[in-house]
Amino acid sequence: MEHAAGHLREVNHAFERQSGSFATSAVANSDELRQALLDVAQPAGSERWLDAACGPGIVTRALATRAARVIGVDATEAMVQRARDAASSAGLDNVSFEVGDATNTGHPTASFDGAVTRFAIHHIPVPGRLFGELARVVRPGGRVVVLDHLADEDAEARSWVQEVERLRDPSHWASLSPEMMRRLAEQAGLTMVEERCFSFELDFDDWLARGTDDPKAVAMVDHALTVRPAGTDRFAVLAKPEGRVLRLAMWLGSWSR
Ligand SMILES: C[S@@+](CC[C@H](N)C(=O)[O-])C[C@H]1O[C@@H](n2cnc3c(N)ncnc32)[C@H](O)[C@@H]1O
Repeated sequence: MEHAAGHLREVNHAFERQSGSFATSAVANSDELRQALLDVAQPAGSERWLDAACGPGIVTRALATRAARVIGVDATEAMVQRARDAASSAGLDNVSFEVGDATNTGHPTASFDGAVTRFAIHHIPVPGRLFGELARVVRPGGRVVVLDHLADEDAEARSWVQEVERLRDPSHWASLSPEMMRRLAEQAGLTMVEERCFSFELDFDDWLARGTDDPKAVAMVDHALTVRPAGTDRFAVLAKPEGRVLRLAMWLGSWSR
């Protein structure tokens, strides 16, 4: 964004760099995650959906196979360009993309049947603003769907994950716990329909390299991993024959407006 302020500058910086590697990553392209999201969102053929913080438009394109129209909004121009190129290569004419702040989209109140945001909450310093904006732009009776990393309820465990994540990628702000997600959604006037919590494994070295190629940052991440507090169970690095694997907890929540 031309006048990106505050933490959005970190986000822009990180995702200008990661736009290609994120777009082709296993986690972004996981069929399991995409299918789970579609199952929960259930976009109908007549509906208009928003993909907030759409990145390279993977979720936008998935929604577009079912909904009448989908608009993707993302703060990072390189991501939006990638999303436009991919949609055009796929021959989709019911999607469009905008560079903008997902917490303040400028779209009219109640102008969407549903809104989705995937892997974005943890980049947003005041996440209630995103819940509030999604609740505002979705019509009464419409749906809001969130898929993101899940943090522990325990504050110390949550801080440790935040330390590891931020050392790897300063655009990460904080993952939320289930209780935090529920409370923010409720404060935004949303009514819980369904929540799912599951674990997801990804290649640790690939995840680390996407975030940073600075050897000092890599060393700090490695060190932080050795000082894990007790009671952390939603973020773990496992040694497997194929190499290090990062096991993350994921949350998929759906609410009615
Ligand atoms: C990890 S990527 C996820 C992209 C996409 N939602 C997906 O799951 O494929 C995070 C994206 O959030 C965007 N982002 C972070 N904060 C944002 C904000 N306040 N407004 C709009 N986009 C934001 C970044 O630019 C980046 O493209």
